[in-house]
This record gives sequence, C-alpha cells and structure tokens, in this order.
Amino acid sequence: MWRRSLVPATKYFSTMKKEKMGFGWWNHVKPAPKDPILSITQDFLADTSPHKINLGVGAYRDEHGRPVVLQSVQAAEAYIAANQFSELLSSDATSKLVEQSVKLVYGKNSDAVTEGKLAGIQALSSTGACRLFAEFQKRLYPDSVMYLPDPTWSNHHNIWNDAEVRVRTYRYYNSISKGLDFPALLEDIKNAPDQSFFLLHPCAHNPTGIDPTEEEWRQISYHLKAKNHFPFFDVAYQGLASGDLENDAKAIKIFIEDGHLTGCAQSFAKIMGLVGHRVGCLSILSCNKKQATAIESQLNQIARAMYSKPPAHGMILVSRILSDPKLRLLWESEMKVMTNRIMRMRACLRRNLEKLGSHINWEHITNQVGMFCYSGLSIDQVVYIAKKFHVYITHDGRISMAGVTAENVEYLAEAIHEATRVNK
Ligand SMILES: Cc1ncc(COP(=O)(O)O)c(C=O)c1O
Repeated sequence: MWRRSLVPATKYFSTMKKEKMGFGWWNHVKPAPKDPILSITQDFLADTSPHKINLGVGAYRDEHGRPVVLQSVQAAEAYIAANQFSELLSSDATSKLVEQSVKLVYGKNSDAVTEGKLAGIQALSSTGACRLFAEFQKRLYPDSVMYLPDPTWSNHHNIWNDAEVRVRTYRYYNSISKGLDFPALLEDIKNAPDQSFFLLHPCAHNPTGIDPTEEEWRQISYHLKAKNHFPFFDVAYQGLASGDLENDAKAIKIFIEDGHLTGCAQSFAKIMGLVGHRVGCLSILSCNKKQATAIESQLNQIARAMYSKPPAHGMILVSRILSDPKLRLLWESEMKVMTNRIMRMRACLRRNLEKLGSHINWEHITNQVGMFCYSGLSIDQVVYIAKKFHVYITHDGRISMAGVTAENVEYLAEAIHEATRVNK
C-alpha cells in the first residue's frame, strides 16, 4: 500500500522550484594558497628545459642525482617478502617501533626510557607527530601558545594553526651574520609568558642549517626551565647533521639532564629515505608511569578519530632496521655516506662560487649543516635563477644540498653568481 503513495522521483524534481534545485554547493570555495615548498616541484615539473634542476624539496639523491633506496631498506624489504606479513604484524609490533624510536633520541640507557615515564605512539612521520601533539596541546592546554623559530619549516605554522593553537615566533636567524641570533633568541624565551610551548629543531635546523653550539643549548635549556616552558623537539634529521645519531641528539640529552619534561616528534622519512611510507613517532616525557599511561591513552584517542592506525609496512621496515644489529650498522654507515656527500657538495659549491670571483662571503655554505643551505639569495635572485637557469629553490633562498651533485654544482654556482651580480 505504502508504495502507491510515493511520488516518482522524476515527477517530484520537475515540480520543484528552479532556485531550490540550483543550490550552489561549494560556490564559496576559493583555491587554497600554494604550498611554498611543494609548489616549487610543480613549477619544476612544468618546465621543459633539459637543464632543469629541482633543489626545492629535501629528498636525498645520489652523486648522479638519482633517488636512493638504501641497502638497509632493501634488506628489510626482502625480510618482509620472505615472511608472512600477518605474522610480522604481531600485536606489539607498534610498541616495539615506539620503544626503538625513543631509544634513538633519549639514549637506550636513559632513565626516561627505562623508568616507564615516556608516553609514545607511532605517528604519520614527523608531520603527523607534530599534528598529534598540536591536537593534544589544544585539548590539555587550550589557551597555551606554541612558539616557533623564525624561520622554521613552513608547515609548522599550518599544523598549529589548523589545530587552533595560538602561534607566535621567536627570533632565530640573523640575516647580517647569516648565523644564529642567540641574544634575541634568549630574549624571546625570557619575554614569553610562563609555561609556553617552544618548538626546537635539535639538529640540522630547517631551513637555516644553523644549530646552536653545545654551550648555547645549555643556556637555552636553562632559560626555558627558568620560565617553566615546555620544549618540543621536531627530530626530522637525526644523523644527517653530523653523520652520528648520538651526536645529533645531544641537545635533547642536555634538556633531560636539566630535568625538563619534553616532547619529541621523530621522522624516518629523510634518515632512512622512506618519505612515502610516513613512519614516525611522537613521545612525551612525563613525571611517572601513571601520567605516561594517561597521556598515551589521550594520544591514541586523538589518532583513533583522525585515521585510527598508521600503515604497517613502513613501520615493520624501520623496526627491522633498528632491531637487527647488522642492518642497524649498515644503515648507520649509509647515513654517513649521505652526510659526507652533502658536506662535500657544500665545500664544492662554495669553492666554485669563490673561483668565479664572487664578491660575496660564502662561508655560511660550509658552516651550515644538514640537508639545506640557507643561501641568503633574495626572492628576485631566486626567480632569476629559475627563469634563466631552470634551477628551482624555495623563495626564501633555501637550497636542498641533497640534490646537488658533482655534475650540476658548477652550473648551480654559475647561476647563483650571475643572479647575485645582476640583482644586487
Ligand atoms: C623540521 C621538519 N619537520 C618535519 C618535516 C616533515 O617530515 P615528515 O616527512 O617526516 O612528515 C620536515 C621536512 O620536510 C622538516 O624539515
């Protein structure tokens, strides 16, 4: 009976008023602004020149400019292929990754690791770890402020803004000395409201490649503690600054010695060449085991509503490399190869610029560490080398040294030299 009373859909719609039918879903949507890093790759892909070079994105390339799959990663892939994936994915596989990750940053014998005071969760690489932390910060300290270094990886701003956490910056870079603006940095720490959050890059600061010295880290730690600020480390390049994992984590150890509670976002994207796998870890050091358990449950709840669980394949790769002594050694030696090649390219770029008779002091190229060279080129100079030489770097003058090779370094030096002469 009820079927007969239904009006057929076609008849129903034909009787509706035109204006009701025409409701404009999404008419108000405007294109989002371009991402300052990813848009460089789009410009590069659209360029048809055979001379083009992409030095925008921080992805490691070998001496011929080819992407690299590390041998340690290949061996871990072979291990996965030779086993039943479901067996590798034991119920505690994720917690093993977390355990191995935190040992990397805090040290395997540190009290932070052995006393159960760390809350940890596998995260979608460092971006995901930062976002989880930002959500957690908003949930637990809704009125707090996150202080980011000026400059910083541009996506940090998006992450904390989207989580609706108030963001401010602290001074970091001195454009005259092309080094750390240490007095200004300390001043900003002292002037921030008590109990603010401070994001720190413990090594290979992106984009500047400028890290504080050990003594400067001690002072930063002291002043953050004096104001009860919370240090949050974004560890995206551990090992790629000095070639040594422990050395690159020394800032974090100083903070732990000083009795800070800390947060760490870790990424395996750059250090294992696993950008597409999105493997990372978020850890928060708390006062005791009870706190750690509570924090971990909150983090798991936040992640559950966003994406439930991260993918497992990359997690098993990383876990295998960190837990198998032979693979671990192989990976660490490969990391040294990557770091040394980048350092050689820094020296080579500087030498070539000096050979061309550049009037500019290029010492900062070799003083900086990690994947990036904060060249000091102006936006006009950056645009010039893209237009005339088809060399793409980010608009802030950041050059990804990981993409510089013996084959393109002379060309790059010529491009920079000409751009700095033409656009002073
Ligand atoms: C400081 C910093 N944090 C996070 C990221 C993003 O890392 P991931 O690819 O692991 O999300 C990057 C690099 O792109 C970075 O430089």
